[in-house]
Amino acid sequence: MNTKDLNTTIGQALNQARQQLKEKGTGSPALDAEVLLSSVTGLDRAGLYREWERRLPGEEEARFFELVRRRGLSEPVAYLTGHKEFMGLDFTVGPSVLVPRPETELLVETALEVLPPSAKIIDVGTGSGAIAVSLASFLEGAVVYATDRSPEALDVARLNAARLGVGERCFFYHGNLLEPLSGLGLRGRVDLIAANLPYIGREEYPGLPEEVRLYEPPPALDGGAGGLDLYRRLIPAAPEFLKKGGLLLMEIGCRQGQALSALLSVPVWKVTVRKDLAGLDRLVVARYAQS
Ligand SMILES: C[S@@+](CC[C@H](N)C(=O)[O-])C[C@H]1O[C@@H](n2cnc3c(N)ncnc32)[C@H](O)[C@@H]1O
Repeated sequence: MNTKDLNTTIGQALNQARQQLKEKGTGSPALDAEVLLSSVTGLDRAGLYREWERRLPGEEEARFFELVRRRGLSEPVAYLTGHKEFMGLDFTVGPSVLVPRPETELLVETALEVLPPSAKIIDVGTGSGAIAVSLASFLEGAVVYATDRSPEALDVARLNAARLGVGERCFFYHGNLLEPLSGLGLRGRVDLIAANLPYIGREEYPGLPEEVRLYEPPPALDGGAGGLDLYRRLIPAAPEFLKKGGLLLMEIGCRQGQALSALLSVPVWKVTVRKDLAGLDRLVVARYAQS
């Protein structure tokens, strides 16, 4: 048999895909090709190298090169595979939610440093549920109340809570910021309000990478002029829910630390700004000092 009649091997498919993605200028062509082929074959990345010479069934080859084509148009890898790892947990994602970012792990890690195992937590703007579900997973008695104004995002968050075994302790509410939570008896009883709300300044929007600008939901990114509109509305609403000494954690862009800290008045709030692994301001930690 002429070898041209045989299907492509895993090694050939990876090499072709890397080349195609490199020509399209995507950021990490080799890694992206591996992650996409893993999702199609069910092999992990090491498995692709172990089975380098294995021939792909025609249907898998076609599916893989369709994903590579879409990746070449900047579609995020996580939307193509339907999965994203966050805090070591496997989250289902899709175009109705922001792809959870590694920077956001700083917020979760900060919360885990200080919260008791049975904490009461609010996650405002929960998206995929990355923060809410991680905190419920790592704090075995915690109860999390999460909100989002996108019903589609809440469906994804509910699915993640159920898939990751914390659906009984995560409650999801549709609406604006903290408004859906009034009337639940949470007044003055909450240990932590976590917020990774949209903080991209509207003026920065046109300069975002295509991968973000063309594919991720604008309501998950657009923080109005200067980027702090949502936090400006959240801060005055937070004290109603927090215990004395409770925390408000807000993820920010690297140039927003001072401006956001200035919105948190002394002595009501004790404020620090934490940096991410890249050494950039990433998290405002505000302790509610009054009851
Ligand atoms: C930056 S995404 C963060 C998602 C998730 N918390 C994470 O860290 O991956 C912001 C989320 O806030 C939601 N959102 C935007 N404005 C909101 C509002 N006024 N009230 C509630 N949620 C809002 C968006 O729908 C989106 O899901």
